[in-house]
Amino acid sequence: MFTIIANWKMNGSFEMAVDYADALAEFYEANPPSSKVVICPPAPYLVLMDGPFAIGGQNCHSAEKGAFTGEVAAPLLADCGCEYVLLGHSERRAAGETDQEIDQKAKAAQLAGLKTIVCVGEKEGEDFARVVERQLEFVDYADFVAYEPVWAIGTGKTPTADEIEQRHNFIIDKTSKPVIYGGSVNSENAEDISKIAGVSGLLVGGASLDVENFIEMIKSVENMQ
Ligand code: PGA
Repeated sequence: MFTIIANWKMNGSFEMAVDYADALAEFYEANPPSSKVVICPPAPYLVLMDGPFAIGGQNCHSAEKGAFTGEVAAPLLADCGCEYVLLGHSERRAAGETDQEIDQKAKAAQLAGLKTIVCVGEKEGEDFARVVERQLEFVDYADFVAYEPVWAIGTGKTPTADEIEQRHNFIIDKTSKPVIYGGSVNSENAEDISKIAGVSGLLVGGASLDVENFIEMIKSVENMQ
């Protein structure tokens, strides 16, 4: 099933979470999408986002519980209704998260019953194959791999369709896992990217913050009017 994920990052508000969930629920009532839609708001808003769509965390800790002030364990996410968790986002890797830590987090998340989306991708000027091949050594517990070229995140730049196809196939060859594309996906390019061979889903950051815009993206992928 095609998977469309909204990653709010550290944005939003109580009011936005409530309104977003209402608008999406209304959309589902009128046009139930065949894609799996997953909303990843900041952790404090997860429980506000009950609805026909799925919710996911943006990170979790590798321990099941314990004295880790400020952290969120995978079982806590599951308890709040999460079905998914994003792991190893480049913004977290940039803050020092290692491949090994990401692997341990994914293991803990699967144990808690969550589906794990492990993000990989090269930075500007880095060699895709060399960087991503190393990152892929640590995706044993990934249900999905998200390919997000770091230089495409929040920049409005995307790889060409051929590059996306080749890179997704590279990851599929190495892992046999479904690969989701992320990096400057918006309502203009979502449909085209969704049709590229080897693309099993979209991970949307900035363009997911406006619910109407996000719904437009779902509709374009679903070929709805
Ligand atoms: P973007 O972010 O859609 O704003 O480029 C994607 C992501 O970081 O997951």
